[in-house]
Amino acid sequence: MNQDERASPAAELPYFEEAGSDAVVNSRMGAQADSRLRQVMEVFVRHLHAAVKEIEPTHAEWLAAIQFLTATGQMCNEWRQEYILLSDVLGVSMLVDAINHRRPSGATPNTILGPFYVENSPNYELGHNICLDGKGEPLIVSGRVVDTANNPVPHAKLEVWQTNNDGFYDVQQLGIQPESNLRGTFTADAEGSYWFRSVKPRHYPIPSDGPVGQLLEKIGRHPNRAAHLHFIVSAPGYEPVITHIFTPDCPYLHQDAVFGVKRELVADFRRVEDPAAAESAGLTAPFWSVAWDFTLAPLAR
Ligand code: BEZ
Ligand code: FE
Repeated sequence: MNQDERASPAAELPYFEEAGSDAVVNSRMGAQADSRLRQVMEVFVRHLHAAVKEIEPTHAEWLAAIQFLTATGQMCNEWRQEYILLSDVLGVSMLVDAINHRRPSGATPNTILGPFYVENSPNYELGHNICLDGKGEPLIVSGRVVDTANNPVPHAKLEVWQTNNDGFYDVQQLGIQPESNLRGTFTADAEGSYWFRSVKPRHYPIPSDGPVGQLLEKIGRHPNRAAHLHFIVSAPGYEPVITHIFTPDCPYLHQDAVFGVKRELVADFRRVEDPAAAESAGLTAPFWSVAWDFTLAPLAR
């Protein structure tokens, strides 16, 4: 297709003016534009022009915005996705997730995956301790995987990952933490039950040494995530759930930097002082215990 063929049919809105500027831009889209892309671009241009009209940026401010987006792109590499981080701190990642995971009531809600998930983490027997660096307060996590009618989901797969007690994931500290520290894959038993040992999670900052961190600082926001464990729970015939569980006593529970906390995902972490209970779990008292069931929704047919 040459340039002339791409030109819009005799434009009805040939002159660009402040009033109706979005309509002028949108009128240039050709008939061959994919219908979904056309819809997306029309909405995007409409809202972008409305924002610019409301803000009335100076040239210097608009240039600063462009420089921010440029720096955000330049920060991205194989390990760091600063644009996803931007989407996270603006609440857009959680919003897109909510739109795409409208589950039946009672099913465990989805949350964002985050950048520190690693596929194929080591497979462990139930009861294994995923904390390999010995830091932090011992924790036992146990529960069941069930369906929305409360029937067990036998042999469901549970992938779990969390930071260490210094607030870093293993992949952020290669060569410092033991490999695969605080991550692993478990298979629930025939009754859907699972348990493993770990340490009580603590709050930690999202990567804040880039443009997104600078933006948060400028607008008076902290970078901390409420203390959590991440899970992906899956089983054939069910919608996999990407989720977290949160400790109720974290100071950032109601101020999570990426808006990941949902009321239904705040768990009851109990401090256990009883030495006999500790001994039967292979721990020393005191330790923490959390019982948590995951409820999977059947796959839509
Ligand atoms: C996380 O929980 O691992 C995470 C989520 C979003 C941004 C950064 C970290
Ligand atoms: Fe996390």
